[in-house]
Amino acid sequence: MNAVKDCYLRWRLRLQQAEISAAGFELDLLLEAFVGISKAQRLSYPEQLLGQDEMARIEAALSRREAGEPLQYLLGWWEFYGRRFAVGPGVLIPRADTEILVEQALAELANTPSPKVADLCAGSGCVGITVACERPDAQIVLLELSPQAAAYCNKNSKALAPRCRFLQADVLRTTAGLTGLDAVLSNPPYIPSEGISGLQREVRQEPAMALDGSADGLRFYRGIPLLWRKALKPGGLLGFEIGFDQGQAVRDLLADAGFSDIRVVKDYSGNDRVVLGRNHMGR
Ligand SMILES: C[S@@+](CC[C@H](N)C(=O)[O-])C[C@H]1O[C@@H](n2cnc3c(N)ncnc32)[C@H](O)[C@@H]1O
Repeated sequence: MNAVKDCYLRWRLRLQQAEISAAGFELDLLLEAFVGISKAQRLSYPEQLLGQDEMARIEAALSRREAGEPLQYLLGWWEFYGRRFAVGPGVLIPRADTEILVEQALAELANTPSPKVADLCAGSGCVGITVACERPDAQIVLLELSPQAAAYCNKNSKALAPRCRFLQADVLRTTAGLTGLDAVLSNPPYIPSEGISGLQREVRQEPAMALDGSADGLRFYRGIPLLWRKALKPGGLLGFEIGFDQGQAVRDLLADAGFSDIRVVKDYSGNDRVVLGRNHMGR
């Protein structure tokens, strides 16, 4: 009864009954994380018996998952751009969509030697740390206000790109004395406040401070271009991740703040996902 093949079927059904769509995929990740059995091992040794301790560990994890805790918080990590980032309660889980911002920034910075880059609203640090990993010559500053997120950001930076500098700061109030930046990148909170309660139950377990972009969702897109322009070099890049329906509004806000060469980039689902502009004042 405790053979891994029987447990797997029983537990997968449990997750399916809790309306978790990728139940088999999630269960394999949980089995590996909580009892050290990989999918390959499960398939190669289906008769392997699980001990009482192992059963208890995974049953506890399943109960938390059934109650709506995100898989990524249970695992304690999630992958972004091929690297594992530590995550847990208090920090936004990196999303695949955000890789578009990183890809665009790397392409735009390809011909800039030793670029100086700030990642505003850094959360886990996935944007800035990935740029640091992909561009070993870049100087990266990560800015984040939340102390809980800051702890993850520092942990990830230490593990993946220790040369990143971290600053705890409110990016709507200060540029922390930074100047001469080649790029300012940000995936800020952008969900309109009213939309938060309607989000999927797992997303609602992520910090409101990482999601809530004020009544119209545009608070950070209004504030950051005006404040941070002075921190950019002439010709410097501003790159934002945006919500799928914010392309035109953010394009207009960048133009109003004096940016040019503004482009909206779509994600792989065909939705507007990134807005980029150049600081051409002062050129
Ligand atoms: C949408 S999350 C993005 C996190 C990370 N960059 C990513 O892409 O996964 C926004 C982040 O902004 C932080 N934040 C919210 N208000 C802030 C502020 N005024 N100054 C700095 N960071 C802020 C939140 O704590 C959260 O970590």
